[in-house]
Amino acid sequence: MIKLTFLGHSAWLIENNDVTIVIDPFLEGNPLAIHKPGDIKADYIVLSHAHGDHIGDTEAIARANDSTIIANFEIATHFGNKGFKVHPLHIGGGHDFEFGRVKLTQAFHGSSFPDGSYGGMPAGILLTLDDKTIYHTGDTGLFSDMGLIGRHQHVDVMLVCIGDNFTMGIDDAAEAVALVKPDLAIPMHYKTFDMIDVDPEEFAGKVALMDLKARILDFGAMIEI
Ligand code: NI
Ligand code: MN
Repeated sequence: MIKLTFLGHSAWLIENNDVTIVIDPFLEGNPLAIHKPGDIKADYIVLSHAHGDHIGDTEAIARANDSTIIANFEIATHFGNKGFKVHPLHIGGGHDFEFGRVKLTQAFHGSSFPDGSYGGMPAGILLTLDDKTIYHTGDTGLFSDMGLIGRHQHVDVMLVCIGDNFTMGIDDAAEAVALVKPDLAIPMHYKTFDMIDVDPEEFAGKVALMDLKARILDFGAMIEI
């Protein structure tokens, strides 16, 4: 079984076969986060893009755990130049790691670092562990090619941004779930800031109307898939 813990915002902790992976670990700056960076023992850190609410506590976690940072080439180079262990990827490309496969998909968004420097293209993340595939949308607007992701690869769990303003809102996020057709959709990237304070129940209701399944996780909650 794969353990999936929602750390709040777009941050996820994924544990499988003694390997721990954290995606977009924004904890210290998130008043709603239950976990602190010191709680996270990550072998790998996977980043969707360079915005501050996604790279978050990457440096502190990587330093404490000697983690390998997996991200697009520009973000990987940025952290590699600071002495961190990195593995660069880019949109459409994937790599088989000891724990499974990571592939970057496209996302329509920005990706500058907090200081304004260039962070490459934003990405979504396809993570395949044993026989399960998790699709983390990153921050993105709706795009019809999401349908290709679900067509080529069965998606077990889709982690979907729903908060509106910076990313898909509830209607578009529900449409994204219809395109990908995962076994389970879990909303993310909401409530953290006033501008993205939407109701995840509304999203879950719209997904249910399409005979697909959504589940809302409390911040800090874990499920097994
Ligand atoms: Ni962003
Ligand atoms: Mn964001």
